[in-house]
Amino acid sequence: MTAKSLHSAAQRTAAAESSSPAPLFDRLRPVLPECASVSDAGELTIGGVLVSTLAEEFGTPLHVYDEDGLRRQMRRFAQGLHDRRPGSEVLFASKSAPIVGMYQLAAEEGLSVDVAGGGELQLALAAGVPAERLYLHGNAKTDDELRMALDAGVGTIIVDNENELDRLDRLLVCPQRLLLRVIPGIDAETHASQATGGHRSKFGFPIPSLPGVLERIRNRPLMQLDGVHLHIGSQILGLEQFVQAVETIATVGSFPVYDIGGGLGVQYALDEPGPEVEQYLDAITEAAARTLPEGARLLIEPGRSVVARAGITLYRTVAVKRGKATFVAVDGGMADQLDVALTGQHYEPILAERLNEAPAESVQLVGRQCESGDLLVDGAVMPPAQVDDLVALATTGAYSYTFSNNYNGALKPAVVFVRNGRARLVTARESYAELLALHAPALAAG
Ligand SMILES: Cc1ncc(COP(=O)(O)O)c(C=O)c1O
Repeated sequence: MTAKSLHSAAQRTAAAESSSPAPLFDRLRPVLPECASVSDAGELTIGGVLVSTLAEEFGTPLHVYDEDGLRRQMRRFAQGLHDRRPGSEVLFASKSAPIVGMYQLAAEEGLSVDVAGGGELQLALAAGVPAERLYLHGNAKTDDELRMALDAGVGTIIVDNENELDRLDRLLVCPQRLLLRVIPGIDAETHASQATGGHRSKFGFPIPSLPGVLERIRNRPLMQLDGVHLHIGSQILGLEQFVQAVETIATVGSFPVYDIGGGLGVQYALDEPGPEVEQYLDAITEAAARTLPEGARLLIEPGRSVVARAGITLYRTVAVKRGKATFVAVDGGMADQLDVALTGQHYEPILAERLNEAPAESVQLVGRQCESGDLLVDGAVMPPAQVDDLVALATTGAYSYTFSNNYNGALKPAVVFVRNGRARLVTARESYAELLALHAPALAAG
C-alpha cells in the first residue's frame, strides 16, 4: 500500500476525532512553517504577521512562505551534506517552486540549482544564479533550449537520450560538462505519476545501453563526462529506497560525480510523519561510503523537502452549503492547487482565524473551478465554516505555484515571503490585462 492510500477521508476524520487534548495549533505544528505561531485570539501568524493582515494586503488565494524556515531548511541540506561528505553538492530542484525570489534564496544559502527547460533557466538567470552553478534537465530538450543553455554558460547538462547527444554534437563549440541520466529500474513507493525510476520510465538511458553511449562520448573531445544521474521519484518516505538508488548508481561504473536526484518525502498529514533531513543524509552518505569510489562527489536534488513545509496557501470562503454533505467553497481551487487532482495530495485544512475553536464538522472543502474533481480536501474537519472565513492549507510550499494555471480564467496567485513581522511580495498576482495580453482577435474589426 502506498503512503497516500493510507489516507482516506474517513481515516483522517477518525484521527482528528480521536485527537489528543493538545491545543489545535500544537497538533498542527509539524505541518506548519517553522516560524508559525498563534495569537491569543486564535489567529495563525507566519513570520510574525497575522494571516488576516496578509490576506488584506495581498488578497487571496495567496501563497505565503516563511523565509527563515526556507533558509534554515536550505542550510540543513547544504551544511548537512557537506559535513557528511565534503565536496558534495546540493542542487535545489527549482521545479518545486519556480519563483525568482526562491532561486535567489537558494543561491544565497549555498545551493546550486537544477532547471528543467528554458523557462526555469530564464528564471534562474533572472535571479542572478551564476550559470556555472546551474544543471539543465529534461527528457526532450530542444535545440533552442540547448543553445540558450550553452550561450548562458550553464555548468552541467544532464543528458537524457541519444538524440540529445546528436543535438549536442551539432551545437557544441566549447567543452561542456555532462552527466548521463540512467534508468535505475527502481519502482519507488509513491503515487504512480511521481515514480520516475522504474524500467519503463521515459527518463534516461537504460543501463545496458551505457557502454555504447560511453564509447560515443569518449570520441567527442567537447563532451566532458563528469558522471551519472538518476532520480527515482518524488514524495518518497522510505529511506531504504534512496539507499537502493545509491547502490544501483554505484554499479554503473567509476566516475568523479554521482547525482542521485531528489524525491525525499515530507509530512503532509498529521498522522504521517516524514523522515528528517539528517536521517536522509545519514542514509545516503553511509551508502555512498560503502559503494561509491572514494572521493567521488555526491549530488542530490531536493525540491519538495526544501520548500514544502515553509509554505501555506490562504483562501477566503465564498459559499457554504449545508445539506446531505456540507460544501465549503473557497476563492481558489485546482487552478492554484492542482496536485490534489493529479496525485490525491492531502493538505491539512485550517480555519486560520479560529484556531481556538474545536473542529466540529467534516466538510468537502471545494474550489471554484468547474469540475467535481476540484476538491481541495475530502472530509476536512474544521469548526463550522462561515462565508468570509480565512482558510489556510498547510505544507503547500512545493508544486503549488508550479502547477498554477488559468482554468476558468483564474489568475495565477501572488507569492509573499514573510520574515520578522514583514511581508514582501515576490511574485505579483496575475492581472486580467496580463491574461488578455497573449490573445489577438480572430475576426477582423468592422
Ligand atoms: C530530475 C529531478 N530531480 C529532482 C526532482 C525533485 O524532486 P523532489 O521535489 O521530490 O525532491 C525532480 C522532481 O520530480 C526531478 O524530476
